[in-house]
Amino acid sequence: KMIASQKLMKVFVTRRIPQEGMKVLSQSGIFDVQLWDSNEPVPKVELLRGVAGAHGLICLLSDKIDKEVLDAAGTSLKVISTFSVGFDHLAIDEIKQRGIRVGYTPEVLTDATAELTVALLLATARRLPEAVEEVKNGGWSTWKPLWLCGYGLSGSTVGVVGLGRIGLSIAKRLKPFGVTRFLYTGRQPRPESAAEIQGEYVPLDKLAEESDFVVVSCALTPETQGMCNKDFFAKMKKTAVFVNSSRGAVVNQDDLYNALTSGQIAAAGLDVTVPEPLPTSHPLLTLKNCVVLPHIGSATYATRGTMSVLVANNLIAGLKGESMPSELKL
Ligand code: NDP
Ligand code: DGY
Repeated sequence: KMIASQKLMKVFVTRRIPQEGMKVLSQSGIFDVQLWDSNEPVPKVELLRGVAGAHGLICLLSDKIDKEVLDAAGTSLKVISTFSVGFDHLAIDEIKQRGIRVGYTPEVLTDATAELTVALLLATARRLPEAVEEVKNGGWSTWKPLWLCGYGLSGSTVGVVGLGRIGLSIAKRLKPFGVTRFLYTGRQPRPESAAEIQGEYVPLDKLAEESDFVVVSCALTPETQGMCNKDFFAKMKKTAVFVNSSRGAVVNQDDLYNALTSGQIAAAGLDVTVPEPLPTSHPLLTLKNCVVLPHIGSATYATRGTMSVLVANNLIAGLKGESMPSELKL
């Protein structure tokens, strides 16, 4: 038995993940799975220890896989399978240099994330958290014509920053609310996707100027980092609502705070922040017109289960030298 287990490939899993995925790993019978058996992030020192000599790594968006981690893993590491579609936490250049393959989870979380983004947009625009609070704290005295009014989607213009899988899926869900015009930005026009929503490809400043709702759904890259800044918010309408479900770092949070407090924009809904978690003392959390969620875009039971299976299958295929269900092209 000892000899057999020595032949197993070592896989390090940085967090407790849904059972469905763990089952796929164990049923493959080819791994010695070492799990950081916790709901909390693995400390760096344990990550470095865990990856040493591993052939495969299953990681989360909260694990920074940098040169130090890759060096600690050594030449045995052949596949990284991340439990996310975003890959800004991976040092892609270093990974590519080492010939390591990467699996990720596109498509399977698109619906859940788009749905959550629509929920966040509506909650922000129609001031739901504030309204619920008023019911609980006795602020609800009577029906008042001028109380807790917000902004509706009917007849509006929606600007999508990054018309990718999730961006398009958000736009398609918003259309039946009566949105009359969709604008979008990106590195280049995406005519096929745009046709589904009659979207117009525009420069970022035009999107800011003309949108009643701005939805950010792009990848975090050096180019998009801090893209929603002072200049961007200054161009937005005073009545516009800003929603971000991509990555926190796409937004300059100090600039957003100033835009929200000076009345430059109406409200903001954020599913992602810098850092995560956002400290409870953060200034953004003092604002009634800012709704912050704890990065729950893909958080349905079914989606997380499906993600875990895809993550396991990506890893297995990668380590067998086969084509992965979802391989990131490096
Ligand atoms: P896609 O790759 O399909 O879409 C990414 C989009 O980013 C593309 O449309 C791309 O447009 C756009 N983009 C890239 N560079 C720029 C740029 N410089 N300016 C504007 N847009 C740009 O990915 P998904 O839709 O599947 O996911 C998008 C992101 O959502 C993920 O990277 C992840 O960070 C985040 N996410 C968040 C979740 C949450 O829980 N809140 C859940 C899942 C994902 P183009 O190529 O045309 O430039
Ligand atoms: C991702 O997959 O990138 C999300 O942020 C979490 O599902």
